[in-house]
Amino acid sequence: MPAVGGFDKGNGKEYPGNLTPYVLVTCIVAAMGGLIFGYDIGISGGVTSMPSFLKKFFPSVYRKQQANESTNLYCKYDSETLTMFTSSLYLAALLSSLVASRVTRQFGRKLSMFFGGILFLAGALLNGFAQAIWMLIVGRLLLGFGIGFANQSVPLYLSEMAPYRFRGALNIGFQLSITVGILIANVLNYFFNKIHGGWGWRLSLGGAMVPALIITVGSMILPDTPNSIIERGRHEEAREELRKVRGVNDVEEEFNDLVAASEASRQVEHPWKNLLQKKYRPHLTMAVLIPFFQQFTGINVIMFYAPVLFNTIGFGSDASLMSAVITGIVNVVATMVSIYGVDKWGRRFLFLEGGVQMLICQAVVAACIGAKFGIDGNPGELPKWYAIVVVLFICIYVAGFAWSWGPLGWLVPSEIFPLEIRSAAQSVNVSVNMLFTFLVAQVFLNMLCHLKFGLFLFFAFFVLVMSFFVYFFLPETKGIPIEEMGRVWKTHWFWSRYVGEDDFVPGGNVEMHKGSNATKNV
Ligand code: BGC
Repeated sequence: MPAVGGFDKGNGKEYPGNLTPYVLVTCIVAAMGGLIFGYDIGISGGVTSMPSFLKKFFPSVYRKQQANESTNLYCKYDSETLTMFTSSLYLAALLSSLVASRVTRQFGRKLSMFFGGILFLAGALLNGFAQAIWMLIVGRLLLGFGIGFANQSVPLYLSEMAPYRFRGALNIGFQLSITVGILIANVLNYFFNKIHGGWGWRLSLGGAMVPALIITVGSMILPDTPNSIIERGRHEEAREELRKVRGVNDVEEEFNDLVAASEASRQVEHPWKNLLQKKYRPHLTMAVLIPFFQQFTGINVIMFYAPVLFNTIGFGSDASLMSAVITGIVNVVATMVSIYGVDKWGRRFLFLEGGVQMLICQAVVAACIGAKFGIDGNPGELPKWYAIVVVLFICIYVAGFAWSWGPLGWLVPSEIFPLEIRSAAQSVNVSVNMLFTFLVAQVFLNMLCHLKFGLFLFFAFFVLVMSFFVYFFLPETKGIPIEEMGRVWKTHWFWSRYVGEDDFVPGGNVEMHKGSNATKNV
């Protein structure tokens, strides 16, 4: 009986290569690309709960909020304009990740990262100096374009640079810098909110220039990946680069496989249309469902609106921003756990454990909020211990996300696509992610107003579905070189219907191992 998801490593190829200081530094710099994304996620939730910011740009929301003290708390922040401010960026990111696919494929991963940095820089400038709402919105769009480019190219860059045995850990550097970006933003919001004169939000928004500069300069000094150099026909240069990256001379086997993959990729004229072929069905499914599920964990309800949410359950403005700092710290630390464990325990274990953890916490939070706020959203006096219990379970939930769907939502898609569809499929991944980030950001406050505490049960339902999906449909990808990834589908109980023995054979060698590809259940 074929395995549900396990894959016995060690029967495939083992390319030589070390975790060289060169590759480590390169990956750390590249992972900084996640900072711009994270900084923005953290900053928007904070500024939208700052009274001075609301008063200047969203006076009607400000008035409603002031006047609304005693009515239904679930609906206190419900405003289309306010959510549009947060979520518009994700629509821009969605569009630009599609353009980025072409740039990444034809001109290399570096150029996409560079565009990402420059666009984000321009957006941060406009936002920091914004005098009118249009400057705010154009700025948000530019930030979004930047994020689309960076998120399209950075995960691919990392997965291609890393020696396969450390690919998980190095790739998660991207997620780690997302979480660090969120945390820095949360801390800054906390302090800038205290600035007298109410212009602290300018520093929060303009501060995005710092991570933008890091990735812009970083992209200029980083080397291109060997895969990408080969893709543009410069074989000798690519071989040298591969030697340097792996820290060994004997890179022929890996190099030949990269060239073979590149040849296969060259024959593909329409990578987008190609995605629809039967043999890419598992890839397309993952490119759509993984980011969809990642967003339906409900994580961004916490990331964008933690201060607003904490405010709703009775914390003061300061305490709310402080609680966002606490969840931010949990997010960073738990991501490090994932870096430690992903190449040891595997992706599936983390996905499933994280899923159970999130599910339990969502049920508890729903019960807590339901018990006190009821249906009418009028809790009366809330005891201190109550708020502490809610924050505690939200933290355990964030930890569950941060070592499962957070990092793996970016890692797994970036490592399963064969070169010929990699760029296009990664764009599908980014755009689906942005689309649902947009939707969740856009409808959350409204959903909270209508579904009330049931909102947490709504997301819990999806966590249950995605955990079943992982259990039955996602094969383990730990410890398998990217160019050999085809074999995980061929031996899978379900996907082997779509992927034949002759599909995905880089260098024509993989077939040699087919008799010994033992699988096991995990
Ligand atoms: C997700 C973001 C989320 C962040 C939280 C990322 O992987 O794509 O939407 O806000 O994790 O750490």
